[in-house]
Amino acid sequence: MAGNWKGIHFGTDYYPEHWPRERWETDAKLMQEMGIQVVRMAEFSWHKMEPVEGEFDFDWLEEAIALLGKYGIKTILGTPSAAPPAWLVNKYPEILPIDRQGRVRGFGGRHHDCQSNPTYRKYVATMVTAMAKRFAENPDVIGWQTDNEFGNSHGDLCTCDSCRSTFQKWLKKKYETVESLNAAWGNHFWSQEYNDFSEVFAPRITVTGENPSAMLDWKCFCSDLIVDFQQKQIDIIREYCPNHFITHNCMGFADKVNYFDLNRELDFACHDQYPGGFYAIMPHENNYDMAANLDITRGFKKQNFWIMEQQSGITGWEIMGRAPRPGQLSAWAGQSVAHGADAVVFFRWRTCTAGTEQYWHGILPHSGNPGRRYQELKDFIGKMKPHMEQFEGAMPKSEVAIVFSYRQEYAMQIQPQHPDLNYVGQIKKYYKELYKNNIPVDFVEDTEDFSGYKLVIAPLQYLMTPELEQKYFDYVAGGGHLLLTMRTGVKDANNICMSDRELPGRLGELCGIEILDYDCLRDVDVQVRMNESEETLLGAKWADIITSKGAKSVADYASEFYAGTPCITKNVYGDGKAYYVGTEPKEELMKRLLALITEEVGVKSLGWSDEEVELSVREKEGKKWLFAINFGLEEGCYQVPKEYKLILGSEAGVLKPFEIHLYVNE
Ligand code: GLA
Ligand code: ZN
Repeated sequence: MAGNWKGIHFGTDYYPEHWPRERWETDAKLMQEMGIQVVRMAEFSWHKMEPVEGEFDFDWLEEAIALLGKYGIKTILGTPSAAPPAWLVNKYPEILPIDRQGRVRGFGGRHHDCQSNPTYRKYVATMVTAMAKRFAENPDVIGWQTDNEFGNSHGDLCTCDSCRSTFQKWLKKKYETVESLNAAWGNHFWSQEYNDFSEVFAPRITVTGENPSAMLDWKCFCSDLIVDFQQKQIDIIREYCPNHFITHNCMGFADKVNYFDLNRELDFACHDQYPGGFYAIMPHENNYDMAANLDITRGFKKQNFWIMEQQSGITGWEIMGRAPRPGQLSAWAGQSVAHGADAVVFFRWRTCTAGTEQYWHGILPHSGNPGRRYQELKDFIGKMKPHMEQFEGAMPKSEVAIVFSYRQEYAMQIQPQHPDLNYVGQIKKYYKELYKNNIPVDFVEDTEDFSGYKLVIAPLQYLMTPELEQKYFDYVAGGGHLLLTMRTGVKDANNICMSDRELPGRLGELCGIEILDYDCLRDVDVQVRMNESEETLLGAKWADIITSKGAKSVADYASEFYAGTPCITKNVYGDGKAYYVGTEPKEELMKRLLALITEEVGVKSLGWSDEEVELSVREKEGKKWLFAINFGLEEGCYQVPKEYKLILGSEAGVLKPFEIHLYVNE
């Protein structure tokens, strides 16, 4: 791990090559005045850096770096592999990707590349090497971003011959013999057996149906391919620039690449945060979703992170979203900081006049004259930066963890079972309820150590291995509290249904239950009653029909042919407890359920707040910084423990729309 990024807290994504050189100094001055300390540049500038094959031109970039450096602004360089130039694509048309329909995707957007193609990889390596050599000793360059948003626009790519043979090699390494591949994929079904690895296809769209096991391996392969593509760049940069950091801008819960894997060899994780999304209509209603993005980003490396792109204006390509209201951009950026961002880089400096993103607004409008957004973010930086210097490296601490697994997600995407059942959606239902109660959450990989958490929530543990089963047993036996849900222990690691015992497999012993039957709730909700309550609440999408083998019922079904049988159970095992939830709790049921569990487990809330007010804490060496942020359009109230003293804001407990209060403990 390398590089020093301490002391840097605010930046912007800058494209000097879009503007006349005479303008650059004005930009640098304006940036400096607003408190910008770093820019990211060049991640789409391949042609500007290599206009003709083998003829590199980094002079313009070096000049921009030096000019910004004069104003105290450091540079992060993006490797330009997200935008291969036309000369390269024309010379080697085979680097264009082929989608699942067998269509060649053309030049003209970005990411028109095949990441397994050896020729493409060679050109990327040459470019990255040239850049790394040129900027290794540049005093104003501090680090690198690999490519740009890996997986973005690569949704159904690539099924070309190169990817096919790379997939075959990946399978051979994993299964060794074609017989074990056939067994793992269940290829006896519909005569899908292969006689040799060379017969395996990259999955183009079929006439009908797909093999779920083959699709799971394909998705994992695509993720590994991206990780490997990035690794080649990391190796080059580490060799030439040992003093620079390397990072990548991830996209929260985007699924194409396993971000735990992608971040392993990076110095810190980054996320691109757009609360306005792709042109959201009411961008103030998804604060919990935005918080989840930040919390998962912190989870990728279990450390503080950066925002490499933070929304700084209206989002839009062909159409546009709502204008962020006065204060809203600051509240969003403040939220990033509150959840563990040590630096926030705003996308983009100035709204561009050409190309796809003419309406994805930057800090400056098209005219380049500083306006409302510049002023607001300048004020925000001025207020926040001195505090960020103090709490740099301080981490949010959570008593609750939610398990996140890309494999589970892939398997559920392949067979959602209920048309509206969705792995990330399910996770966010639990997250949202905790968020509403100001209970901090960490997202963890299923291979991590759970022992530091009072409560582990593991929705849809659909694919199960003996190791993971054992991990859950050990966690609960050692005093942990585990929440498992419907569709747990259904399949083995190859996405084949398990048949050796009733659902949820061996975990039935941990939960004290057995599931002999279930109901997929198509177009109907099931009624549920919490024990000792007459009130009818609702579950959706799924109903496990549970037989207790020692577990206590927490709630019973109150409709359908299984009325009166358990819907939610709890079981004491060793020093801990395992809860099992047989349905998707709708809002009110979720509220009651998590209130009950968090109370039983002794999980603490940071304080009380109105619905639109978020409380979060960052902690370092016993010192705590508490943030209260109001995302609502009205005044919002909250209460925090007496140990906290207000250090930013005026009236403790009352926030104007989009206002941020900051406290420290005494
Ligand atoms: C992403 C990309 C940027 C830009 C923005 C806006 O986050 O990383 O290059 O395209 O979206 O569309
Ligand atoms: Zn390909």
